[in-house]
Amino acid sequence: MDPIRRVRKAVIPVAGNGTRFLPATKAMPKEMLTVVDRPVVQYALDEAREAGIEHIVFVTGRNKQAIQDHFDDAPELISSLSRSGKTAQVSELEAMLPAAGTVSFTRQQAPLGLGHAVWCARDLIGNEPFALLLPDMICHGPRGCMAGLIDLYNFAGGNVVGVEQCPPEETYKYGIVGKGDAVPHGFEVTGMVEKPRAGEAPSNYFLNGRYILQPEIFDLLARQERGAGNEIQLTDSMLHLSKNQRFHAHPYEGQTFDCGSKQGFIEANVALALSRPDIGGMVFESVRHMVLTHESRIQAA
Ligand code: UTP
Repeated sequence: MDPIRRVRKAVIPVAGNGTRFLPATKAMPKEMLTVVDRPVVQYALDEAREAGIEHIVFVTGRNKQAIQDHFDDAPELISSLSRSGKTAQVSELEAMLPAAGTVSFTRQQAPLGLGHAVWCARDLIGNEPFALLLPDMICHGPRGCMAGLIDLYNFAGGNVVGVEQCPPEETYKYGIVGKGDAVPHGFEVTGMVEKPRAGEAPSNYFLNGRYILQPEIFDLLARQERGAGNEIQLTDSMLHLSKNQRFHAHPYEGQTFDCGSKQGFIEANVALALSRPDIGGMVFESVRHMVLTHESRIQAA
């Protein structure tokens, strides 16, 4: 067996149109929508760093300048905050700034699909395994999801996907994997199917937007074959790759929120606010009051 090569780089694709969030995303990237007090893309970068990733490649596009600015220095803001004695904010901004030279940006000229966005990172990734984090999926739990994928990868090598269980009647919404033998930190993947029809899902484990992929995926993506929605789909190339390479799945012990959907975005805001020591108590009281008021309105109607 080949030695297991370390995962050093991660791709974070941010070039999509975010059509499900129009009009909010007409002029602002959906990856800059705020969950509590930070943009969704910040959660992905923090998760990658926690997992030991050394270099992040953002695949960006038109109207996404705000993302670049968010990860850049802001000297005027920092001196203004320092002059006002706001040292806590200065420390927070400084801590979230990636070190010089550890972030690259490349451009997807048109949003032709997630598979195409990943392919755009091929030169910056080169011939080595890499992590992929979809920033609109926020993984919330005691530990970041990517750290768990790395644990499994360091044991098994090959390709690794993050998964979570959904109610069996909801498998039609997701990419679903088949569950094989258990391994440390996960299980062997026996098959993958994108949005299976009712009764045809091999399990209720859905792909939660976290991947470790071998560079051979780029050769398959280079074929630029269109799939569902006439987009170049990542899952199609992963299916091809799984014919020659092993895939394992790491079930995430936390919860993933799909912030690309309105419901998931609102749930993420509530769940993450409730978990915050500074505002959790107040938010809990507000939510409880809202729910009770809403319930009594429904009963009175
Ligand atoms: P999504 O499919 O959730 O994003 O892609 P979208 O296409 O922007 O959303 P809707 O369906 O129109 O509302 C998941 C991630 O992949 C990126 C998106 O920016 C998002 O972070 N993506 C998607 C690209 O970078 N390029 C693409 O062509 C498609």
